[in-house]
Amino acid sequence: MSGSRPKLLSYLLGVPGALKVWKFFSHSRARLNLADMRRDYALAGLAESDAPADDPWPLWERWLDDAVKGGIREPNAMVVATADAEGRPSARLVLLKGADRRGFVFYSNYESRKGAELAANPQASLLFPWHDLERQVIVTGAVEKVSAEETAGYFHSRPLGSQVGAWASAQSSVLAGRAELERRVEARMAEFQGKVVPVPPFWGGYRVVPTAIEFWQGRPSRLHDRLRYTRQPDGAWRRERLSP
Ligand SMILES: Cc1cc2nc3c(=O)[nH]c(=O)nc-3n(C[C@H](O)[C@H](O)[C@H](O)COP(=O)(O)O)c2cc1C
Repeated sequence: MSGSRPKLLSYLLGVPGALKVWKFFSHSRARLNLADMRRDYALAGLAESDAPADDPWPLWERWLDDAVKGGIREPNAMVVATADAEGRPSARLVLLKGADRRGFVFYSNYESRKGAELAANPQASLLFPWHDLERQVIVTGAVEKVSAEETAGYFHSRPLGSQVGAWASAQSSVLAGRAELERRVEARMAEFQGKVVPVPPFWGGYRVVPTAIEFWQGRPSRLHDRLRYTRQPDGAWRRERLSP
C-alpha cells in the first residue's frame, strides 16, 4: 500500500489540475469519515433504583470511585466552563481537588482569564468526561473562593516546582517567549531558596456550590439515561429524569 503512494503522487503532479481534484475528494472523504464515527453505548444503565431520590452524593461517590478504579486517565480532570459579564463563554480542563457536600473544589490563578470571569460572574459549569465508562457528570452552580487556610493547606502539599511555578506564571497573560517564563521561574527559585514558599495572594481555590448535578449514562440507539438532581429553595434535592 505504502509503495503505491509515491507513484500516485507523481501521477497527480504530472496531470494539470489533478492534485486539486484529488484534494477535493480526499477532504470530502475526511468529512464523511467524521460523520461515520459513532459508537453504540451498552455498558450499563442508570435506573431510579440506583440512587436515592433526595440525595445525589451516594451516586456521585459511586461514579467517582468507578472512574478511579476503571483506570480512566486523570479521572479528576474536568472541563470548567465560565462566562464573562456579557455572557461570552470559555472552557478549559482543570483538576478537581476536593468534593464533598459543600461543593467541588479546584485551584487556579485568581487573575487568569477564568479568574477574571469568575470575579465578574461567579457561576460555573463542570463536566466530567468519563467516556470510557460511557458516562458524563455535569454540575452547575455558584462559585466562591475557599478559605485562605484551605488554600494554604493544599498549596503546601504541592511539589516545590508547582509552588514556585504559581509565583512565576501570570496565568493567561501574553509572554514574549518560553525564555521569559524560564527566567521568571529562575528568579523565583532564587528568591525562595531555603524558605517556605508563601501562598501567592493571586492564587487559590474555588468551590462550585452545586445547584444541579446531572448523571448521564450512554444507552443503545442514543436513548441515554439522564438523572438530574436540582437543589430546591428549601435546600432539599429533587431528582428528575431527562429526555436523552
Ligand atoms: C489535565 C489538565 C489539568 C489542568 N489542571 C489545571 C488546574 O487544576 N488549575 C489550573 O489553573 N489550570 C489547569 N490546567 C490548565 C488549564 O486548562 C488552563 O490552560 C489554565 O487554567 C488557563 O485557563 P484560562 O486562561 O481560561 O484561565 C489543566 C490542564 C489540563 C490539560
